[in-house]
Amino acid sequence: MTRPLLEVSHLFKSFGGRDGLFRAGRRARVVNDVGFTIGRGETFGLVGESGSGKSTIGRTILRLLEPDSGEILFDGQDIAGLSRGDLRRLRRRMQIVFQDPFSSLDPRVRVGEVLAEPIRLHGLREGAAIEARVDELLETVGLAPHHKTRWPHEFSGGQRQRIAIARALAVEPDLIVCDEAVSALDVSIQAQVLNLLARLRDDLGVSYLFISHDMSVVRHIADRVGVLYAGRLVETGPVGAVFDRPSHPYTRMLLAATPSLAGRSRAPAQDIAGAPPSPFDAVTGCAFASRCAFASDRCRTEEPPLDTFQAEDHRAACWHVAELPPLGPEAAQGDAAMSPAYRRRIDLLRRAQAGSPA
Ligand SMILES: Nc1ncnc2c1ncn2[C@@H]1O[C@H](COP(=O)(O)OP(=O)(O)OP(=O)(O)O)[C@@H](O)[C@H]1O
Ligand SMILES: [Mg+2]
Repeated sequence: MTRPLLEVSHLFKSFGGRDGLFRAGRRARVVNDVGFTIGRGETFGLVGESGSGKSTIGRTILRLLEPDSGEILFDGQDIAGLSRGDLRRLRRRMQIVFQDPFSSLDPRVRVGEVLAEPIRLHGLREGAAIEARVDELLETVGLAPHHKTRWPHEFSGGQRQRIAIARALAVEPDLIVCDEAVSALDVSIQAQVLNLLARLRDDLGVSYLFISHDMSVVRHIADRVGVLYAGRLVETGPVGAVFDRPSHPYTRMLLAATPSLAGRSRAPAQDIAGAPPSPFDAVTGCAFASRCAFASDRCRTEEPPLDTFQAEDHRAACWHVAELPPLGPEAAQGDAAMSPAYRRRIDLLRRAQAGSPA
């Protein structure tokens, strides 16, 4: 078996003290012992409520943030302790695409220059070859070479997101972290951009860490998924297994609370009763116990490891997996197990994708 492109293990990240915001001595423990891998050409989805630590994990992997501890191996190489030059080379191979296509592009820079700059910076092409590469990138993301003389404000949200993707691709990365990359877009445009990302994965072999609070989007694009709760992974596995046979009560809650079409941009947090523990408070036992209908004394005292449930690559951290109510025969039928609103949304995404030219 070939080695995964990204291997994250025992990752911890906290904020506090010198980071500003908080009274000295108080630390917010935001990422707690997180581990996962991403294979080459694989899309790993990271889901969870607002504040669960998704973006922090993404930024730590890119070393935009320093982890407290843990190991991040990229292509077998530990990214901690890299020299400045090595880090620069590594940065080229990992890119990020953010949520907001309106603020992620400098309004004073023409599109052609947005794409040419990273190519020049990393010395990937010279002279006329730079312009040819810019044309190629625009075509790759479904835009045209004549767009390069235009300014970012002349483009729609979906087009700007394509430009942001082209900019990420300009340096020929192996991994792209998509942090809510389609969350601000209309559903039909979302489908086009998701389609584009899937095509790039198939054509170029790019891997994605796909961060989203939207379960239906993750189901649509990801191969494997990790469910994050209060900075801890509570369930991971192939997307079909996790979504059709959710084994952690929190995953079940998230799926049951999947936003309706009208509330698409809303984080599921608002649909789920209770709140996660404060990152400032020490947690004993399972972090989800305070909101869980199945919690026992053991859950409140002893933290369940991620392999209390394990079926091949599907794992969950719950002491009571075996006693949870069965999902019913419809669970095996995939989408049928989901709420009508969820199913409508998946249908819409599929139809939009089938009809989209991208
Ligand atoms: N630089 C920082 N300094 C202090 N606290 C931070 C910092 N960045 C994030 N946090 C805190 O860490 C927690 C996790 O934030 P993060 O942005 O990773 O969540 P998220 O899962 O991406 O949420 P969302 O879905 O809203 O984007 C939050 O409680 C946040 O307030
Ligand atoms: Mg975020």
